[in-house]
Amino acid sequence: MHDDEWICGRLGEDEPWILGAVNPPVFENSLFTFGSAEELGEAIRNEDERYVYWRGTNPTVDLAQRKLAALERGERAKCFGSGMGAISATISSLVSAGDHVLVLGAVYGPTTQFLRYLEKYGVTHTHVDDLAGCDSAIRASTRLLYFESPSYMAYEVVDIAEVTAWARERGLVTAMDNTWSTPLFQKPLTMGVDLVVHSLSKYVGGHSDLVGGVVVGPARLIRPLALTEYQLYGAAMSPHDAAKVIKGLRTLPVRMAAHQERGLAVAAFLERHPAVRSVNHPGLPSHPGHAIALRQMSGFSSLFSFVLDTDSRQEVGAFLDKLRHFRIGVSWGGFESLVNAPALTVEESVRATMGVPVGLVRLSVGLEPADTLIKDLDLALETLA
Ligand SMILES: Cc1ncc(COP(=O)(O)O)c(C=O)c1O
Repeated sequence: MHDDEWICGRLGEDEPWILGAVNPPVFENSLFTFGSAEELGEAIRNEDERYVYWRGTNPTVDLAQRKLAALERGERAKCFGSGMGAISATISSLVSAGDHVLVLGAVYGPTTQFLRYLEKYGVTHTHVDDLAGCDSAIRASTRLLYFESPSYMAYEVVDIAEVTAWARERGLVTAMDNTWSTPLFQKPLTMGVDLVVHSLSKYVGGHSDLVGGVVVGPARLIRPLALTEYQLYGAAMSPHDAAKVIKGLRTLPVRMAAHQERGLAVAAFLERHPAVRSVNHPGLPSHPGHAIALRQMSGFSSLFSFVLDTDSRQEVGAFLDKLRHFRIGVSWGGFESLVNAPALTVEESVRATMGVPVGLVRLSVGLEPADTLIKDLDLALETLA
């Protein structure tokens, strides 16, 4: 097995590309042709592996898939046109009418919305906080346990091996969103998770110029998904986006080292500041899940939240407006540092049911110098002092 840096930079790139090009070619082909009708028929029956039509497979997308599968230590990967494309196809592939899904901890909002959408097809779900909650909510019809770790917005850490052992004993399939950690810092398949999904729009792409997703797992689960949901939903990744994923992967190890260092420096600064009530970053020793995080993760990304010492939406707004370096926006994982606050962007009733305090602010620490970012936060925090 090669190490992750080699996988990111070299896997699948041994062949001399045409004219000695340093980048793999982008196969801008909607279709591929065959020597005979029989050959075409055989290819269509195995379209998850053969190049027939771009909505199913493409060599550039395939190269990105091979790298992502190897990084996650999975047999196969399938790339989608967005993270939600990967999530909705994955969940759909695992459940049928009458099935029930357990959702452990806070997950990305549209994932919950998709589960609600599935109710019209007779698939129900229950949100639970921990394994005790899973024990109470499990039903004879429960088929899937879905979670993120660290969890959405609160960045609580789930003990992955404990959860997958619990699920396996009860015959459930597990699927996990591993976007926060990237395939470099956490490998859930090695801890018993059946299918791992990612939004590639965040750190993997890394430059806020791409929307994409991937699911990784054993061939027995990926193959049917690739032949059915992938083909029918049509959320295919384009070869151009796959080329950006491939470029993103080349620099992922160095970028993640820098994100980790800068994110932790900013989090440590905020933790010491009197205008901050708490900081939710699993890399801080004060975080309740830090010990589990150290056991199951090899590093920390730079997306985290903290709680301002205020219960006023106006003050949260004034704080955000005062920031000069952090730009106000959704998404995360790119070069630029970003800030977002659910009190200002999420409907009040929804925010309250999410258990998110008014003063919660989310930061995506980018690749600018940490002292520039800290100075920016320090000045803006004066508005609350
Ligand atoms: C944790 C998480 N998972 C999945 C997604 C969805 O990814 P995409 O925007 O690529 O559809 C997001 C997007 O913000 C996310 O934050």
